[in-house]
Amino acid sequence: MSMKLNKRVEAIQISGIRQFANQIPSTPGAVNLTIGQPDFPTPEAVKQAGTEAIRNDQTSYTHNAGAMELRQAVQSFFKDSYGLSYRAEDEIIVTNGASEGLDSVFRTILEEGDEVILPAPTYPGYEPLVQLCGAKVVYLDTSETGFKPDPQALEELITERTKAVLMNFPSNPTGVTMEMKELDALKTVFERHDLFIVADEIYSENTFGGAHCTFACFESLRKKTILVHGLSKSHSMTGWRIGFILGPVEVMQHVLKVHQYNAICASTPSQYAAMEALVNQRHVPAEMNKAYIERRDFVYKRLTEMGIDVVMPTGAFYIFPSVKKFGLSSYDFAIRLLKEGGVAAVPGSAFTEYGEGFLRISYAYSMPVLKQGMDRLENFISTLKLQA
Ligand SMILES: Cc1ncc(COP(=O)(O)O)c(C=O)c1O
Repeated sequence: MSMKLNKRVEAIQISGIRQFANQIPSTPGAVNLTIGQPDFPTPEAVKQAGTEAIRNDQTSYTHNAGAMELRQAVQSFFKDSYGLSYRAEDEIIVTNGASEGLDSVFRTILEEGDEVILPAPTYPGYEPLVQLCGAKVVYLDTSETGFKPDPQALEELITERTKAVLMNFPSNPTGVTMEMKELDALKTVFERHDLFIVADEIYSENTFGGAHCTFACFESLRKKTILVHGLSKSHSMTGWRIGFILGPVEVMQHVLKVHQYNAICASTPSQYAAMEALVNQRHVPAEMNKAYIERRDFVYKRLTEMGIDVVMPTGAFYIFPSVKKFGLSSYDFAIRLLKEGGVAAVPGSAFTEYGEGFLRISYAYSMPVLKQGMDRLENFISTLKLQA
């Protein structure tokens, strides 16, 4: 083709998770433990609010930042749940999922040559967005520090080109959460530098060991913290595409322009469904968490009984065991587990090179599915041991 495409677009790749998922159909009957979305239906009342909105012809554009009623619901939710204060008028934007929120934020703050520090292993959705802005990701290896960023290591990576640090806790893929004292230690580093903290806390409602600690809680960092959130995980609403950005007006007035030209607004019926989720269905994540905790405990127990090293996850719905001792790359391990063992789980390398040697298992599946998956994994690793 003689027409030239955008080189930055040509350079990015389809995500490693998707690449691996594309292999699954060729192994019929495989137990699929790869999916990163809740296995529960969207709550009934939320579905009703969405369908009623359609019936009542609430199907035209809303304000670019989202319907005021929804922004007020977002405001109250974050105030009540996390003690955060953001104005509905100019500090909250409703987006098409956290994904569009992240894109709008990065495009607002990043310029050619900027650097974004990203603790890794990490969700593969960030780096391409950063690269499309002509900026570069600098990884902070957390694989030796319990998958949590070490403040000293972070400090050492900061240069005059560092524009932002992205923090995703509870984490996809590791399921790790941060405690207040750990956030405090990082706060000291952030206070010393002129950079943005982009906090993707989409799993904040899915914490199992106590209340979620948010990076947005520090008054001293308020002007540089941008919180990205959404209902995909908390209310099993991945397909409704509702996300939120909360941040200081000085930044948000510019994010709004990017979002406006990209999206105009988030889907209006979905916004009405979101109101219901945030106003009357706040109890839903805690109900789902009961199931996640039972499943996590089961999978953790089975993995440790198999002699597999694994960090106990305290949030999200992933577990990230080490498969290093089997002497295969994580990709080869995952492919053989799929083809020979009949279980699909995402190779750690899909979450950057710092995920190499690990496997991401999603436990957003019913107990019988998880049991079958663990039985098959156990059989598979016993064949590997025999071959060794
Ligand atoms: C860490 C993280 N951030 C963002 C997203 C995207 O969420 P949304 O569905 O709101 O676009 C995901 C989805 O898996 C995720 O795991």
